[in-house]
Amino acid sequence: MATERTFSIIKPDATRRNLTGAVTKMLEDAGLRVVASRRIHMTREQAEGFYAVHKERPFFNDLVSFMISGPVVVQVLEGENAVAKNREVMGATNPANAEEGTIRKTHAESIEANSVHGSDSAENAAIEIAYFFKPEEIVG
Ligand code: TYD
Repeated sequence: MATERTFSIIKPDATRRNLTGAVTKMLEDAGLRVVASRRIHMTREQAEGFYAVHKERPFFNDLVSFMISGPVVVQVLEGENAVAKNREVMGATNPANAEEGTIRKTHAESIEANSVHGSDSAENAAIEIAYFFKPEEIVG
């Protein structure tokens, strides 16, 4: 498997509890390398655009409000099989169902405040990376 890139967000529940370093360490320990990183406070428009695929879902408005409730850290992660590796270390969407040792099992507060986002495919990773980063901001 060739080196791949994926997109990650450390969500407001994690930045609020000062867990940026702890979460990043878990990503790094899983073999992922942070090749771009920026702390931002998303606008409502930015969050709605990012989660546009979910706009018909019942949780969309609450999700957007949560994602703009505080700062987030957007990151590009690089490594072998990075998309799948990141999903594995994140754990299940609902922390109650997440495996021991995963970020969400260790740190998430709820299905909504679940500490991290990670792209679910290489195709979406490319779209999500381009949504937040210019090519020259990614340094591998
Ligand atoms: P989803 O893409 O299904 O999960 P994942 O983040 O694991 O890829 O959903 C996106 C986010 O939407 C999820 O991280 C948290 C939120 N969400 C809810 O608030 N309630 C829900 O019932 C679901 C399914 C998701």
